[in-house]
Amino acid sequence: MFELTGKTAVITGASRGIGKAIAVKFASQGANIAFLHYMDEENAVATEKELNEMGIKAKGYECNVADFEASKAAVEQILEDFGEFHILVNNAGITRDMLLLKMGESDFDAVISVNLKGAFNMSKHVYQHFMKKRRGRIINISSIVGLTGNAGQVNYSSAKAGMIGMTKSIAKELGSRNVTVNAIAPGFIKTDMTDKMTEKAREAALEAVPMKRMGQVEDIANTALFLASDEASYITGEVIRIDGGLAM
Ligand code: NAI
Repeated sequence: MFELTGKTAVITGASRGIGKAIAVKFASQGANIAFLHYMDEENAVATEKELNEMGIKAKGYECNVADFEASKAAVEQILEDFGEFHILVNNAGITRDMLLLKMGESDFDAVISVNLKGAFNMSKHVYQHFMKKRRGRIINISSIVGLTGNAGQVNYSSAKAGMIGMTKSIAKELGSRNVTVNAIAPGFIKTDMTDKMTEKAREAALEAVPMKRMGQVEDIANTALFLASDEASYITGEVIRIDGGLAM
């Protein structure tokens, strides 16, 4: 079940955290991995080594997904290095949390550019390859705040809500080409991103989670694997919450 042998996955932001867990999970099922990272060289080198030691082919590419031309060049390089790819995971993301009162234009633009435009850029660049092959999987890592909103995250929740609209629109455009497009909406998952939260904010967040604990990166990786697998071939345009019940 959930075999990915012979498949290649392109995963953005996989030098650490959720993206890395997805890369390791896919590799454990036999997939080759091409991953993008940005300003995280040390982790990227370690991740590439770890993945190659799993007996699959893996390569990291330094690329800012917010940059249309740079992400195009990265996808072209991946095609040259791997010959083809079957799965795209749009995972790269950043936060710049603050109340609207303090949020500047650059704080809004930066978060939209990486999280939302980055997913557009990558989907646009893989689109023709998937169309030609008449198959493909796109998995967008959104967030529950894209469904519920969150004080202090006007930029981030807008980007994550946008990813959900993008997921459904591309799912409608590419369904007849056998390309599925789905989103995962994680709640509080233990990574470098959530380690930046204050103790007070973390406690308040956990109080609201029915399961009273944070999720692990593997919880997201397991669902990403299912969505990438043949077993999920008739699921498209779906948003799956993985949040311990937080946003129900
Ligand atoms: P992280 O901060 O641990 O890792 C982010 C990754 O994105 C790194 O590999 C980094 O190199 C890459 N990245 C950052 N900016 C980039 C850019 N401009 N171009 C290319 N790559 C870039 O983050 P984490 O927690 O692993 O989050 C991964 C995704 O999951 C993000 O999209 C995040 O918004 C989402 N998410 C995370 C939650 C959490 O609780 N940790 C909850 C909901 C969603």
